[in-house]
Amino acid sequence: MTVTAEFLTALPKCELHLHIEGTLEPELRFQLAARNGIQLEYASTEEVRASYQFDDLSSFLASYYAGMEVLRTEPDFFDLARTYFERVAAQNLTYVELFFDPQAHTARGVPFDVVIRGLRRAQQDAQNRLGIRSALIMCFLRDFQAEFAMATLLESLPYREWITGVGLDSDERGNPPSKFAAVFARARAEGYRLTMHCDVDQENSIEHIRQVLHEIGVERIDHGTNVLEDETLVAELIERGIGLTSCPISNRWVSDGTKATEITELLRRGVKITVNSDDPAYFGGYVQENLQVLAEEAQLTEQDLITLQRNAIDISWAPPQVKDDFRAKLDTLR
Ligand code: HPA
Ligand code: ZN
Repeated sequence: MTVTAEFLTALPKCELHLHIEGTLEPELRFQLAARNGIQLEYASTEEVRASYQFDDLSSFLASYYAGMEVLRTEPDFFDLARTYFERVAAQNLTYVELFFDPQAHTARGVPFDVVIRGLRRAQQDAQNRLGIRSALIMCFLRDFQAEFAMATLLESLPYREWITGVGLDSDERGNPPSKFAAVFARARAEGYRLTMHCDVDQENSIEHIRQVLHEIGVERIDHGTNVLEDETLVAELIERGIGLTSCPISNRWVSDGTKATEITELLRRGVKITVNSDDPAYFGGYVQENLQVLAEEAQLTEQDLITLQRNAIDISWAPPQVKDDFRAKLDTLR
C-alpha cells in the first residue's frame, strides 16, 4: 500500500459520478418494501447481495431497475439520499453531484415531483447537518425514445433552479449520443450543463466519444476511458480541459477489470480524470474504496490522490466559493 488508510480517509473528496438510485443498499430496500407493503422475492439481504452476479452493463442494469420498485413516495427518496449522505460523510466527502433517473420512476407511475422533492429535501438536510454540498444531474435513459427524454426535460423546467445539469445513462448498445442531439441542444438552451455516459468497452466506444465531443458538446464524459484508442481525441480532451469520471470498481463488474492502467495513463498525460463510485450499493464500494482500489493497483502516491481530487473540483459544476473552499482544504495536505 503506497498511501495510508489515515491519509485516504482525511483526503477531502469530491464525487461526480454517483447514481443516487445505485446507493440503495439491501437493508434499506427491505425497510422501504415493508413501508410500502411490497413483498420482495428475496428472503434476506444476503440473498439480495448473492443475486448480484453481473458481468456486463445490461446484466447490472436489470438488477438496478428491479431494485427501484420500492421507491414510491417522497420520504422514500429522502431516505435513499439521506442514507447515502450519512455514509459518505464518514469518508470526508464534502461535495457531490448526484445523478438521478426520473424516467425510471415516472415510467412506473411515480411523479417527477415526488422524486425531486425527496432528493432536494435530503440535499438541504445534508448541507445543514453534515456540511455536504451537492448538486443534481438529471439523466435521460438512452434505451427509451428521444421523445420521452424531451418530455422529461420539459417536465423538469419548473424545477430548473434545483437541477444543475443533464446526463445520459442506461444501455448504450444501439443508443448513440446522436440520438439525443435535439434534447441536449434544448437542455443547453435552458441553461443546463451537459455530460453523457460513454461506458467502458462498448460497441462503437470511440465513435460515441467523438459524437459527445463534436455533435453534443458535452463539458465532461462519464467513464470514457476508451478515448485512449484515439490519440487525436486524447489531445482534444487535454486541450479543452474536458474531464472524465472513471469508476474503477464498477469497471471490474461490467468489463475485464478496473482499467487502472488506462486511468493512470490518462492521469499522467494530464487529462482531467477523476475517481468515482457509480452505483456503490451494487458494486460494493463508495468513493473512498474506489480510490483505495486504484491506489493499490496502480501504486499511486499521496500526490496523485490530491491531483485526482483537484481534477474533480476543477471539472465540477460547483459554485466558485465551494471550489475555493475545497481547494483550500486540499492545500493544507501538501
Ligand atoms: N452506465 C450506464 N447506466 C447506468 C450506470 C452506468 O454506469 N449506472 C446506472 N445507470
Ligand atoms: Zn454511471
